[in-house]
Amino acid sequence: REGFAQSKLKFTPIAPVDAAVDAVTVPEGFTWQPVIRWGDPIFNGTPDFDLNNQTAAAQAQQFGYNNDYTDILEIPGTKGRRAVLFANHEYTNENIMFPASMPAAEVRAVGAAAHGLTVVELERKNTTKPWSYVKGAPLNRRFLNNTVYELTGPAAGSALVKTKDDKAGRFIKGTLGNCAGGTTPWGTILSGEENFNGYFIGDPVTSASDKRYGITKEPTKRRWELDDPRFDTRNPDYKNEANRFGWIVEVDPFDPTSTPKKHSSLGRFKHEGANVIVADSGHVVAYSGDDERFDYLYKFVSKGKYKEGDRKHNMTLLSEGDLYVAKFTGNSATQIDGKGTVPADGGFDGTGEWLPLVVDGASEVPGMTVEQVLVYTRLAADKVGPTKMDRCEDVQPSLHTGKVYVACTNNTDRGLPGKEGATEVNPRNANRDGHIVEITETGDQTSTKFSWNLLMVCGDPSTGDVTYFSGFPVDKVSPISCPDNLAFDSVGNLWISTDGAPSGIGKADGLFKVTLDGAERGKVEQFLAVPRDGETCGPIIHDDERTVFVSVQHPGEDGSFDVPNSYFPDYVPAGTTPAPGQARAPRPSVIQVYRQD
Ligand code: FEO
Ligand code: CA
Ligand code: CA
Ligand code: CA
Repeated sequence: REGFAQSKLKFTPIAPVDAAVDAVTVPEGFTWQPVIRWGDPIFNGTPDFDLNNQTAAAQAQQFGYNNDYTDILEIPGTKGRRAVLFANHEYTNENIMFPASMPAAEVRAVGAAAHGLTVVELERKNTTKPWSYVKGAPLNRRFLNNTVYELTGPAAGSALVKTKDDKAGRFIKGTLGNCAGGTTPWGTILSGEENFNGYFIGDPVTSASDKRYGITKEPTKRRWELDDPRFDTRNPDYKNEANRFGWIVEVDPFDPTSTPKKHSSLGRFKHEGANVIVADSGHVVAYSGDDERFDYLYKFVSKGKYKEGDRKHNMTLLSEGDLYVAKFTGNSATQIDGKGTVPADGGFDGTGEWLPLVVDGASEVPGMTVEQVLVYTRLAADKVGPTKMDRCEDVQPSLHTGKVYVACTNNTDRGLPGKEGATEVNPRNANRDGHIVEITETGDQTSTKFSWNLLMVCGDPSTGDVTYFSGFPVDKVSPISCPDNLAFDSVGNLWISTDGAPSGIGKADGLFKVTLDGAERGKVEQFLAVPRDGETCGPIIHDDERTVFVSVQHPGEDGSFDVPNSYFPDYVPAGTTPAPGQARAPRPSVIQVYRQD
């Protein structure tokens, strides 16, 4: 093959940025501005953000906290002048959001209202201008802890998900711990319920499931159990409440009256997110990682087939299908030395298979029903021998090649006493910086066999880290650590955003372009860096418009309310009174980065 076309988005990579720098760093010739910030008013009549006078009623109508997955979809018929933005709100950082004097009950109420999801319309004068969000637009919506989600698939209606408030086991209030996500070919948004366990009290002694999912007997961090009994699952009325979280959520951002879904067919675990590709056969395939040290990688294959243009039908596809979990086998003649040295056969690679959990509506796991496999997916997978991975974050198929990319963010426990040591697919003990797996399905995307190799083993070669970039010279790449979210540009380059580089290579997190094809395969180029303590998430690459969007999550999270670590994005000077709607405090925000010309 001749190689991919060139992207219109040309830039000179930035140098790595010190982790203490409280600034957005972009390439020469580019500038940035927020699209929407924590607290920005969504509806007509919603008050401006007021840091020192926060209320739950206002927050419920304002943009939530810690935006993670983000996408921007053009509204048809608007000639590119109108779009809809989706963002989820993974969690809250109460220590930097609220003054210490704020009553605990108010902290809980405002914090709860800062969770959930947001849909908001954007507008611009023409396609060369940056976007602004539109307060009071028709599609604007906040999803809160009382928003009702319909559970679909085999677990819906099962005894394992019924509670006092939902005797049918089909309607769930709220979504929690939403991390990454994906946008479907039919224009809906998927969002992964990841660290839901932290919102529930349970009993890991009497419940194998609570133990496996990390639910403890301790009071929760945010103490919502004081306001709503369903967060304490020791209460017999709510013993199943935690089983109603840990799913993939599907939202239609174009219909503000639609009921969002939770799809049980994709299994229940700490879903980082999910990404969909239509196979040649027409079945849709969704890939999803369980972000926990030594947990697994999953694949869903729909029973039904995609029908171009039939959105109503396509929105049923994730409700019924087969679920698999990945097993990787290495093929090297020599052992890897645990530091990431390239094996004797030239690369980290091998074969793999998708082990069945549910096929044709029947359980493939001995001793477990379909409902049990889907609700207790981690326990089911444990029985079939999949590969323990180094924290799978985003798993994204390339629509150009069908190859699937898996961001293994890190696993500092690998090789510790009693823990599994390095293997060819997770080749480094005490894996501080992570790596990216590249999967090639054998034939159609629905295949149960694949081959794999590592695209890169991350780190900073200039400080002596043993790294691997598909053979590209290690002294010519931007150092990179803790890959988290993945995206593609219009010509098929991979973009990686990172979460954890300060504790990895000691640099700020950022966004990186990776060439996948031709002589420069493996070349990593840093595009931006985020402010102090921030994580880069939700990358959107509109390279045809020379614009990139990222979600800046938890800026300044290691500071305090009184002594902020970050003033992003308003950067109100010290001694100055903030303008209405501004704040002298860190605010998670979605930003756009674009060429100044
Ligand atoms: Fe919320 Fe897996 O990062
Ligand atoms: Ca995050
Ligand atoms: Ca993440
Ligand atoms: Ca992460």
